[in-house]
Amino acid sequence: MTGYTVEGGRKLSGDVTVHGAKNAVLPILAATLLADHSTLLNCPSLTDVNAACNILEHLGCSVVREDNSITVSAESLADCIVPEHLMREMRSSVVFLGAIIARCGKARVSMPGGCELGPRPIDLHLSALEKMGVVVEEEHGYLNCTVPDRLRGATISLTFPSVGATENIMLAACTAEGETVIHNPAREPEIIDLANFLQKAGANIRIVENGTIYIRGVKALRGVEHRVIPDRIAAATYLCAAAVTGGDVLLREVVPAHLFSIFPVLEEAGCSISHVGGAVRLFAPKRPAPFRCIRTMPYPGFPTDAQSPVMAVSCLAKGTSLFVENIFENRYKQAGELMRMGARIKVEGKVAVVEGVAKLHGASVVCTDLRGGASLCLAALAAEGKSEITDIRHIERGYQDFDKNLISLGAIMEKTEFPL
Ligand code: UD1
Repeated sequence: MTGYTVEGGRKLSGDVTVHGAKNAVLPILAATLLADHSTLLNCPSLTDVNAACNILEHLGCSVVREDNSITVSAESLADCIVPEHLMREMRSSVVFLGAIIARCGKARVSMPGGCELGPRPIDLHLSALEKMGVVVEEEHGYLNCTVPDRLRGATISLTFPSVGATENIMLAACTAEGETVIHNPAREPEIIDLANFLQKAGANIRIVENGTIYIRGVKALRGVEHRVIPDRIAAATYLCAAAVTGGDVLLREVVPAHLFSIFPVLEEAGCSISHVGGAVRLFAPKRPAPFRCIRTMPYPGFPTDAQSPVMAVSCLAKGTSLFVENIFENRYKQAGELMRMGARIKVEGKVAVVEGVAKLHGASVVCTDLRGGASLCLAALAAEGKSEITDIRHIERGYQDFDKNLISLGAIMEKTEFPL
């Protein structure tokens, strides 16, 4: 099994160029099904991106990858079915549903099922698509979607601003008949990036100040070139790596405005942060101050994806920090592994209390999920002694060159094969 060995206790300092956003590139890859020929720039090299490309190829697209660009030709599709093994590679493959239905008038996809963060239902996706004229039937673990008449625009009010549901509705609506209105949509930067891609491709999309999205269906979209936005969660993770080791980093190619809910949290820990253009600099104190209360929220609130990297910082804080996880049911799985390194954490439902300790010690730990896995690496970098971190396939879903970037900041770590 592949893992990292980490020799902790070194301050991290230096520059990192942040890669393109995983959560932006995935729905945009789904959107390429709506046009003939699209080129995406700044695509990170990640296993989740490979999984999305595999789905496109299975559907009959030609996918050409060169460095960080991906060109998708979707002139003719061979299939509208996403089989189980491809759906299981990546839970967020459900975002292909809206695009396949828009393109083919039907879709058959394996039910995405649960994941490491909890059950992750897709009821909001399905009820919105039904409102747009899709008939959804469940059969032997598959969703059979058909459009007996035409896909038509609808007014949809989301009871929760689900990122995936908003994306699926947007993808279904671009070429539907008439207007779609999405009230209470997700407002994450990745949604805006998807809207920008679709708009460039000829979609008629308007997002007003309160967030409501208006989409008037057009006949067809055309292929375009699009540069994916930087990954704000990878950026937050590298800022936390500096914060937990008492270091200083300069991040390049970020959009500081996407990090405005993260800066004040790290400033509360005593870090000083400045930003100019697309660069962010963070200087950390020797030991962080505690976080009074971190509540995860839909954007522009504090992102659930940054909760576990920040928790790694809180483990070494000079006091007690409180976390309230409002988005996912099961998002403190890293806590048990952090405790193996000497962290003092109590989890009760959506609340976690972290009593900072003066030192963590190296240990053998197992990645529990993508961001939780990253938080274990951060804790290991700050811990005394050697850690072994296994099951890093979770980390490789979302961070390109994670170990190389940390090594370039001075980390002593190595990718190794561990016996099973
Ligand atoms: C996306 C991101 C993920 C991030 C999350 C929240 C991608 C590929 N993934 O996931 O990294 O952590 O947003 O910012 O972009 N829910 C329902 N019914 C639904 C849909 C969602 O109950 O039909 C619930 C979920 O179980 C969860 C919450 O809503 O508790 C948020 O989910 P959602 O915003 O849809 O997240 P994802 O799109 O899955």
